[in-house]
Amino acid sequence: MNDHDSEKVAGVLLARGYRQVETPEAAKVILYNTCSIREKAAQKVFSRLGELRPAEEKLTAVTRQPLAGEGTQDNFGKIEHLALAVREGAQPGIIPQTARDGAAVAVPQESRHPSQRKIVNAGGGKIIGVLGCVAQQEGEGIFERAPWVSLVCGSASYRKLPQLIAELEAGNRRVTGLDTDTDETFETEITRRDNPWRAYLTIIEGCDKACSYCVVPFTRGPERSRASASILDEVQQLAEAGYSEVQLLGQTVNSYADPSARKMRFSELLAAVAEVRGIRRVRFTTSHPRDFGKDIVEAIEAHPTICDHVHLPVQSGSTAVLRAMARTYSREEYLEKIALMKAARRPIGITTDMIVGFPGETEKDFEETLSLLDEVQYDGVFAFKYSPRPNTPSLKMADAIPEEEKGRRLAILMDRQREIQRVRNERTVGETFEVLVDGKSRRENQWSGHTSSNRVVNFTSPEQELLGDYVQVRVVSAMPNSLVGEMVGRV
Ligand code: 5AD
Ligand code: SF4
Repeated sequence: MNDHDSEKVAGVLLARGYRQVETPEAAKVILYNTCSIREKAAQKVFSRLGELRPAEEKLTAVTRQPLAGEGTQDNFGKIEHLALAVREGAQPGIIPQTARDGAAVAVPQESRHPSQRKIVNAGGGKIIGVLGCVAQQEGEGIFERAPWVSLVCGSASYRKLPQLIAELEAGNRRVTGLDTDTDETFETEITRRDNPWRAYLTIIEGCDKACSYCVVPFTRGPERSRASASILDEVQQLAEAGYSEVQLLGQTVNSYADPSARKMRFSELLAAVAEVRGIRRVRFTTSHPRDFGKDIVEAIEAHPTICDHVHLPVQSGSTAVLRAMARTYSREEYLEKIALMKAARRPIGITTDMIVGFPGETEKDFEETLSLLDEVQYDGVFAFKYSPRPNTPSLKMADAIPEEEKGRRLAILMDRQREIQRVRNERTVGETFEVLVDGKSRRENQWSGHTSSNRVVNFTSPEQELLGDYVQVRVVSAMPNSLVGEMVGRV
């Protein structure tokens, strides 16, 4: 999600005539995209910003201008992704995939955008901006602590970014976008996409669920869905531009509610996307169990282009904890959704998110989480230690679990799941999968890619060029997190 936000933000800058540079030193605009879903790490954001403090800042008096926007909250967060990150091996002209803790850097192409010169010369300074959840939470407080920052914009206000950047280009020192009550979604004309084969597409923004541990409803605002016709048009354009895989995104993607008269259900939208000419793989993430119905499984069954993978976060295997988390389903109700998938005509890979050490989680609750792992047999689990987040109801809940105990539970859970995955993956030895090749190793003849169920496969092939191709790979051995195979043909 955050990666795609970075792509969109980068798209806005590219459309304004900026280009990417390799280092923060060379940049005239540096944007940090931050995430605060877990971990208290505001200090990290500020120490990062401290590194960017320009030498001349010490000499230049800061003009405090009236701020547009509103809302400051005391908060923490961590830098997770950055808008225009720089990664090794970047091809010229292509902005590489975002990297954790990378820097968002861009310089104006003066030939295309002469007005930029003004900024270049403005006190020799750079435009430094903070985006994302930490921006949303800290608001104007960021200017107080890092006066060399000139842009603060939360993810619900990215639509305002072109305007905010225009204001900075016009000489404004401080601009903010902090509203969360917008009913607009962030649609950009030109979005830079980092993966040449997989295009991400946000179909629903924000979240109307109110899980008691989660900051997302505060930082990303209420749910807003994009009109189905606009989504389908974009998918069409993506297919024409050569993308064969699309991934539909949303915090609760399956809560999609078409705002247009067409009133497409999520499963109908999936089917319509799957039928777009040129699209060979459709993914979607993240699904919320409450809105996950049989119709989605039927869409997967009916359309081979819809990938056989569902990410369905459960968070806990204990109904008592689920209730405290306000997840709106019980263990049994969740298992009913799993049963729908297990009964599907083709196998569906299932992955999940889990939180350990939620306040009040007893040893027995935790045991229930472990037994859920055994029962569901997930293909992948993202497990997190509960991390208290500002403004969330669970912040004030009694019976906090000590960090050490959270760590112990996390390690047990991961060990258990690792063993499950080892066994599951080993069962695939001898099977042949269709793989979209998306990586080439430095070692000769070594390639990697993803199956429809999103398993990583490393394989050998003497072919010269396979990137972006769909090939058949037979699995020869398996590890808990990946498969090893050999190419046996093209698709
Ligand atoms: N503490 C720990 N994990 C969290 N997640 C969200 N909020 C928190 C929190 N406060 C996890 C959930 C969610 C994933 C994206 O992050 O498991 O599904
Ligand atoms: Fe957060 Fe719950 Fe919404 Fe997911 S569904 S984004 S965990 S509030």
